[in-house]
Parts: sequence; structure tokens; C-alpha cells
Amino acid sequence: MTKANLSLNGTDYEFDVIVGSEGEVGVDFSSLRKTAKAISYDPAFGSTGACSSAITFINGEKGILRYRGYAIEDLAENSTFEEVMFLLVKGELPNAAQLKAFKSQLAEHAEIPDALVEQYKALPKTLHPMAALSSIMVSLSGYYPTTGDEDQDIIRLLAKMKAFVALGYRQSKGQDFVQSKNGENYIADFVEMMFGKTSPALEQAFDQLLILHADHEQNCSASTVRMVGSSQANLYASIASGVNALWGPRHGGANQKVIEMLEMIQNDGGDASKYLSKAQDKSDEFRLMGFGHRVYKNFDPRAKIIKIAADEVLDDLGLDNDETLDIAKALEKAALEEEYFKARNLYPNVDFYSGIIYRALGIPTDMFTVMFALGRLPGWIAQWKEWNAEPKSRIHRPRQIYTGPTERKVNPISER
Ligand code: SDX
Repeated sequence: MTKANLSLNGTDYEFDVIVGSEGEVGVDFSSLRKTAKAISYDPAFGSTGACSSAITFINGEKGILRYRGYAIEDLAENSTFEEVMFLLVKGELPNAAQLKAFKSQLAEHAEIPDALVEQYKALPKTLHPMAALSSIMVSLSGYYPTTGDEDQDIIRLLAKMKAFVALGYRQSKGQDFVQSKNGENYIADFVEMMFGKTSPALEQAFDQLLILHADHEQNCSASTVRMVGSSQANLYASIASGVNALWGPRHGGANQKVIEMLEMIQNDGGDASKYLSKAQDKSDEFRLMGFGHRVYKNFDPRAKIIKIAADEVLDDLGLDNDETLDIAKALEKAALEEEYFKARNLYPNVDFYSGIIYRALGIPTDMFTVMFALGRLPGWIAQWKEWNAEPKSRIHRPRQIYTGPTERKVNPISER
């Protein structure tokens, strides 16, 4: 085992070095506090590994993303979302018999209780769909108490999530919710539950979008699911915490903000240069939404695939002269030529083009992140399951460096 040496306050310490299957190197500092009476300090975890994981690999410099070793481009082209759900949660792509059994399990659990539909309808009409999804998610233990049979709880949640999304969509349109009729075919069933009809083009577009969003290693929401799961909170509470983390505009909420930004540029005459300047102005809080990434310092491979899909979907739908897409492409081109973005390796991420497709497919802007959550559910579950299966899994409890007042006494209020 390779070692790393640290010299601190005149004493030398050595720590184990672990190397992952793709050659990533980590220094195991778990004994640092006990041996050197010091902690590692990395507030946004930019250089900190919270776990080892066999689920997803990202090489941010090369723009590589693989689920369980399969390249995202390969999966987007040659698999279905049902197969990717199976792959992420169980570790292997299903064979024909396994897929058939999985599909019938998804069908068996596809319905949701009428009481839950009524519960959703009773929520404030002004409530953001991500807040509604989170409230439904955390209430599931009231309808389906976790049974101790983890696989049963997982398949049930995978089966029902599309109904929560369809329920939110139908509610937003003032339409009655329609229960699953064709659970054996996850995507066709979902599209029918949403729009009352389906088509091969719609199914292909949604299938690919959900595959592209299915997991992304230790992103903010997946790390939150692990954090909450480490307290042994149940599956639904852990996933609800992931929904809440994903909602933020720095994370999954960016897809809604991208469209709002593009529409703002469109309404402001379509000239992107003003917004490119604002994005570079440190005194301006405006950020180019859909650009930049903590890990990708090259193109987000998902953004490349979605950009092509955006053209195809808009063309299929006869919307190929979509001004918003034109503005997005002009913005992307201009940004990639600006020194500010080049110097910081800021490229379009998964959220930059997804909103354009979701809008073309009839998804309301405030439901874009709910669509992201539908895709990300198998990834969150896989991360939660992997953490819980860890023999030495302990509660997540980071340390801190205290910078507040040193000890002082309470004096009488008359003296304050
Ligand atoms: C997702 O982690 C994941 O895997 C997430 C995700 C997943 O699948 O789970 O990939 C999904 O969340 C994608 C990201 C969606 N968010 C957005 O598009 C919001 C806009 N992007 C930024 O807020 C930002 O890029 C983040 C949040 C994505 C990343 O933030 P970091 O890693 O903390 O980077 P940073 O803020 O330290 O930026 C480094 C520099 C700074 O400038 P300097 O201080 O060096 O001068 O780049 C600048 C930043 O100001 N910068 C931007 C920018 N993003 C970074 N400047 C303008 N516009 C931007 N979008």
C-alpha cells in the first residue's frame, strides 16, 4: 500500500493512499484527527472524497461519464430507461428474462392510492412542483411503511415516481389524474399518463432524457441522500432530501433558470452580449445558467447529446425555427469564444439544452426540475443502497474549524 507523508508541528505522519479502478488517487485521512490532532479543511468538498463507489465514473477533464462502466453515449443510444434503472440499482444490465420480470414488478406497483391524489390536490396551488414532490415523497411511509425488505421498497418507489410527476402535470393543467394502464412499458405508460396519448418520437425523447439524468456520482443531491441515509432515516425521507437539494438553481433547478434566462434575453431584443458581460461582472450576481460545472472542465457529454436531441425533437414537432434554441446556440458559441469562460473551463452542462426540449414536449417550466428528479431517482436509490450496504457505514458527521468568540461569562443585562 502506497503511503502519503505529512509533516505537522515538527512531527511526521503517514497515511494510506487508495487508488480507484480508474486510477484516481485518494489519501485516507480518516485517522488524521486521532494521530495528528488536526482535521482536513475543504469547505465545499472540492478535493474531498466522501466514499468509494462502484456506481458512476466521471472524468471531468475528458468529458467522460459511465454508469457501472457503460459510456453514457452507449447507454443513450442502445438501452432504455428501464434497463438503466436496473443497471444502476442492481449493478448489471438485465438479460431478457430479468428485464421481463423487472417490467412486471414495475407494472404491479405502478398505481398510487386515491388518498395520495387527494393529498396532492389539497396542496396550495402556489406551491412549486418540487416542494409538492418532496412533500409527497416524505409522506409515502404513511402509505407504504418501509418493510425491512429493501428491494420491495425500492421497486415500489421506482414504479410510482412517474405517477407523482404525471399527477403534478395533470394538476397544473386542471386535468384529472389518470392511473397507469400499461405499466409493462414504463415510458409509454408515463407519456400516456401525462398527455393522454403517446408517440414513438415522444417516447424516444423522454427515454433518452431520463437515461441522461439517471446518476452523476457524488453531486449535491446524491451526497445529501447519502448524508440523510447515514442517519438511518428511511428510503422515502432520504430521497425527499435529494429532491430538496436538487431544487436549488446551482443544481437541478438550473434547467428552469436557463429557459427563464433565454426568454429574458429574447424579450430584451435577443442580444446575448449584454448578458455575457453581466455573467463576467463580479459585482453582478447574474450567472450564465446552464454553464459551468464542479467536475466537468470540458464539455458535459450529456449536453452534447441533448443538444442534438433538441434539434431532432424540435424538427419532429415542426418547431425547428425555435428562437429560444437559436439564442441558446448563439449564447453558447459566444461564451465559448470569451476568454473569461475559456480561462475557467466553463462549458454548457446538462441543464443548458434540456429545458428547450422539455418546453417543446409540453412540460411547464416549473416542472423541468421534477423531470430531472424522475430521471435521477434510480441514481439516488443506488447511492443510498450502496451506502447502507457498506459494512462500516457510520453516520455522516463532518468536523469544523471554530472561529467564534473564545469562552466568556454572562454578565447582567444592565451591563451589556
Ligand atoms: C448540475 O455536481 C453535479 O454532478 C451536478 C449535475 C448532476 O448531474 O447532478 O451535473 C447537475 O447541477 C449541473 C450544474 C447546473 N448549475 C448551473 O448551470 C448554475 C450555473 N453554474 C454555476 O453556478 C457553477 O458553475 C456551478 C454551481 C455549477 C459550479 O460551481 P463551482 O464549482 O463552485 O464553481 P465556482 O463558483 O467556484 O466558479 C469558478 C469560477 C468563478 O469565477 P472566479 O471566482 O474564478 O473569477 O467560474 C465562475 C465563478 O464566478 N463561474 C461562472 C459560472 N460558473 C462558474 N461565471 C459565470 N457564469 C457561470 N455559470
